Amino acid sequence: MKTAPTPLLIPLPDMAATERLAAALARLSRSGDTIALSGDLGAGKTALARAFIRQRLGRPDEEVPSPTFTLVQTYGEVEDEIWHADLYRLARPDEAIELGLEDAFGHAIVLIEWPDRIAGLLPRDRLEVAIGFDAGQVRQATLTPYASWIDRMPLLSTR
Ligand SMILES: Nc1ncnc2c1ncn2[C@@H]1O[C@H](COP(=O)(O)OP(=O)(O)OP(=O)(O)O)[C@@H](O)[C@H]1O
Ligand SMILES: [Mg+2]
Repeated sequence: MKTAPTPLLIPLPDMAATERLAAALARLSRSGDTIALSGDLGAGKTALARAFIRQRLGRPDEEVPSPTFTLVQTYGEVEDEIWHADLYRLARPDEAIELGLEDAFGHAIVLIEWPDRIAGLLPRDRLEVAIGFDAGQVRQATLTPYASWIDRMPLLSTR
């Protein structure tokens, strides 16, 4: 019997905590990775993606707008691309294919807000990051690894 992946809970009481988690994830990531960022409006998905992209590019001042209307923003060189998608306004899953997301899954690092919009198209090999609030209304991230991410989780260091 296959065991279910074990989620990891990480408190995000302030932006510094979000930036530490983003930096840790950026260090663990490689081309072809998918990170699905879920959580309600305003949970902090874009904040995490922005910090990840800045860390990965080594450019702390990089402009990283929310892809609310463009749906996708890309960063970096072709061989080391990062895609940042926000699928909240996706009309239908087919539109994600038109955006080129399926092709991106194979080669880029893909960070996706509102991944539920294309649930059936998501690669099985992915890290799911769900941001919510604990009983004390403090933000927390629940990390659920699949496939290649399972063995990488013990290497995640947010210190
Ligand atoms: N760890 C945190 N501590 C304090 N404030 C935070 C934290 N993470 C995000 N925020 C703040 O919460 C607000 C919303 O964040 P953000 O835009 O990242 O949310 P989102 O999940 O991307 O929302 P949407 O679903 O609309 O795209 C921003 O003002 C951001 O600075
Ligand atoms: Mg957002």
